[in-house]
Amino acid sequence: MSAADVASRLVIDYRNATNTAVGDEHGISPEELDAVAGLVQAEHERIASEQASGVQRWQDLPDNTALADEVAAFACEARGKFDDFILIGIGGSSLGAIATIQALTHPFRNLLPKERRNGPRFFVLDNPDPEKVAATLDTVDLGKTLVNVVSKSGETAETAANFMVVRNALEQAVGVDRARQQIVATTDPESGLLRQMSDQNGYRTFPVPSGVDGRQTVLSAVGMIPAALAGVDIHGMLAGAAAMRARASSGDVRSNPAYLLAALSVIADQKHGKSMLVTMPYADALFGISDWFRQLWAESLGKKLSVDNEVVFAGQTPIKALGAIDQHSQIQLYTEGPNDKLVQLVAVDTYRDKVGIPNPPANMPELGYFEGGELGQLLDRERHATSWALTKAQRPNLTIRIPTIDAAIMGEFFYLFQLQTVMAGALYRVNPFGQPGVEAGKNATYALMGRAGYEDVREELTATPDDADAFLLQP
Ligand code: PA5
Repeated sequence: MSAADVASRLVIDYRNATNTAVGDEHGISPEELDAVAGLVQAEHERIASEQASGVQRWQDLPDNTALADEVAAFACEARGKFDDFILIGIGGSSLGAIATIQALTHPFRNLLPKERRNGPRFFVLDNPDPEKVAATLDTVDLGKTLVNVVSKSGETAETAANFMVVRNALEQAVGVDRARQQIVATTDPESGLLRQMSDQNGYRTFPVPSGVDGRQTVLSAVGMIPAALAGVDIHGMLAGAAAMRARASSGDVRSNPAYLLAALSVIADQKHGKSMLVTMPYADALFGISDWFRQLWAESLGKKLSVDNEVVFAGQTPIKALGAIDQHSQIQLYTEGPNDKLVQLVAVDTYRDKVGIPNPPANMPELGYFEGGELGQLLDRERHATSWALTKAQRPNLTIRIPTIDAAIMGEFFYLFQLQTVMAGALYRVNPFGQPGVEAGKNATYALMGRAGYEDVREELTATPDDADAFLLQP
């Protein structure tokens, strides 16, 4: 599928986020949208000129079809050779691949026989959780396992530790020379410890593009290698992203879908106290993209300082939810608890499977409403009902509607959400790139682990306050 064959198909219905639907206190008015239109236009021009000068490089990723060809060729060969695939990476280095594979492959693909699976089984080691790592090593066939270690910085403690554990197990199982053939690293082309280790050991490598944060790498080798290994149409995904980029190329807040979503979220937060943004797809396959979006929104917008160096403590807490399951969990809170959320629902017009509901027993007229029904219809009607109930309770919500779940739609989502986040950063007046708050925790971990150069932090971290015992509850 080439970019030229794909047109954007995603629809946004935001009526229920407006004052017409939920009243002036909670809903966004046309005047409020008008008020940000000039700023959106100006920021659009800045973002476009930054793209031209190579600053907003994530916007160029949909064009990298040459890399997609290379990844697809690599994956095609690897799919014939390996039965298991372990992705080692965390945050932006794993969430995009997880979202993609969850959306576009069989939900139980690891349980399918090889002939039906279309590629090796897929395992992710993100957390350095000893129980999960041990269980993974206990499950895979190391002789037929491909390991993809992904780290932009090449320094992240969780990834480095998991990689050393897995590499050691691999070397013990198959020997150092064969292990080398079973490792592929995705990292910075020039710098970092993983780059150094790869060069020293002769690992095959793919680049993490420079000038993009980890959470913007889903459309690079970071997201594409695992996806292609699992049989995903990565060219289709890039084409969908390019289609969304073409559609989102104007600076008009009402017609650019990314800017509209950004403006609605930020206005809802700043003018109507909606300090939380819930993403609630009505499809199990899309739960992963809520997780990916959660990181993107939180890490990009949660900033202490504005671009003018003022303390602003900006951000909107992203929450992931899943319809209809969360109707039996969180919706009670969303409908009757504090009115502090904007809910973005995701509707799917046609699910990839159709499962009819058998006619209910004749002696149970209470179930008669299922007659001739179908599960996808029930799920989508639940989504409709939830949107209605939220609106009745004056809870602003909007619906992102997609025709079905496929590679191009995932590309659209990835591009849309990234541009929405960049524009939201502009409206909050914060820099959506970088994550100084995360770096502080990373450095503290290095200090606690005794890494050289972090001695001062270690001293501060390990000092025991005089009153520590006063706050310790022990048996
Ligand atoms: O968005 C980001 O940049 C971060 O979330 C990183 O992806 C995450 O911290 C992992 O970093 P790295 O890829 O350098 O190991």
